[in-house]
Amino acid sequence: MSEQQVCSTPFEQGGKLCRSCRLLPEKAAGRNCSRLVARSKAMQSLLVRAATIAGTDASIVLRGESGSGKEVVARSIHANSPRRANAFVAINCAAMPSELLESELFGHARGAFTGATTARKGLFETADKGMLFLDEIAEMPLSLQAKLLRALQDGEIRRVGESNPFTVDVRVMCATHQNLQLAVQHKRFREDLYFRLKVFTLVVPPLRERLEDIMPLAEIFLQQEPHRTQRFTPKAAARLRHYRWPGNVRELQNAVKHGAVLSLGEEIDVAHLPEELFAEPGAQPEGAEPPPRGRITLAAAERLHILEVMESCGGHQTQAAQVLGVGRTTLWRKLKQHGLDG
Ligand SMILES: Nc1ncnc2c1ncn2[C@@H]1O[C@H](COP(=O)(O)OP(=O)(O)OP(=O)(O)O)[C@@H](O)[C@H]1O
Ligand SMILES: [Mg+2]
Repeated sequence: MSEQQVCSTPFEQGGKLCRSCRLLPEKAAGRNCSRLVARSKAMQSLLVRAATIAGTDASIVLRGESGSGKEVVARSIHANSPRRANAFVAINCAAMPSELLESELFGHARGAFTGATTARKGLFETADKGMLFLDEIAEMPLSLQAKLLRALQDGEIRRVGESNPFTVDVRVMCATHQNLQLAVQHKRFREDLYFRLKVFTLVVPPLRERLEDIMPLAEIFLQQEPHRTQRFTPKAAARLRHYRWPGNVRELQNAVKHGAVLSLGEEIDVAHLPEELFAEPGAQPEGAEPPPRGRITLAAAERLHILEVMESCGGHQTQAAQVLGVGRTTLWRKLKQHGLDG
């Protein structure tokens, strides 16, 4: 991989591939995600895979914890797909009741229900020739799943309250923080729809498994702040690196904002960071630097070492087990024991 790790070439200018992720950068308008950080091996291999898939019209399911960057990756895939000149339309399937979601997706006829004073087109129509991103797909009610499957299989949709179907040409990408296969087993998700959607599955790793991404992300978020704060003190940077980030990149973004608002000078110090960064089990008291490697428990050193090896092996457990000189089962047990199996 090259030295250039941050994707910052404006999409509109020249269409040059980022040397790091081999994807075209995002449109600047795309929710502050024109700069995609992928310094960790895990993220780089994910993006290289995404670049290959982007050129096809296949459906993709993006899995990953909340805030890990699923939508950013989805937008990158769209920006690199033959459909990039057309719309990328995103909707959160968990954010509204079933009936509303149905009319959002498929549109409705005038008078279809109380309050429908005019006809309205749905997101499938808006996304025609482009991409429809269905976030939190596991939360979609079963009744709607059947309608979605029909739309995907036949390319035909029908507005609520209308009898005539019409054709649309939409590529669908989905995201979930849940295990869809498990949802199928528990009959919460239709198996036929699952297989229709998951032609490719991409897993966005949690931030705690991408240690190398933390500071480059923090620097980018800091640059986006309107305040004159320019850098992190070494102690603050150490806290950022050692925190487990349960809310992933979004939590890091908010922590940087918090720090930039509270810091009155040019530097963000530990005291300016959100207090959760000190409330973790084993975390240091406020203002204290994490202890050096030579002063931590064996368990903490083991956890750190496993994380670093996993990182250097791009998240491949078999390779990591070889480097560590243990069997795959032992590594799996240790990942679980240290809470690194998320
Ligand atoms: N690799 C990255 N480089 C730059 N910014 C990122 C990266 N990953 C995530 N972000 C930023 O972090 C925030 C959260 O990312 P995003 O919305 O893609 O996460 P998500 O996995 O879709 O979250 P949720 O599960 O809550 O829907 C966004 O503001 C996004 O721009
Ligand atoms: Mg999202």
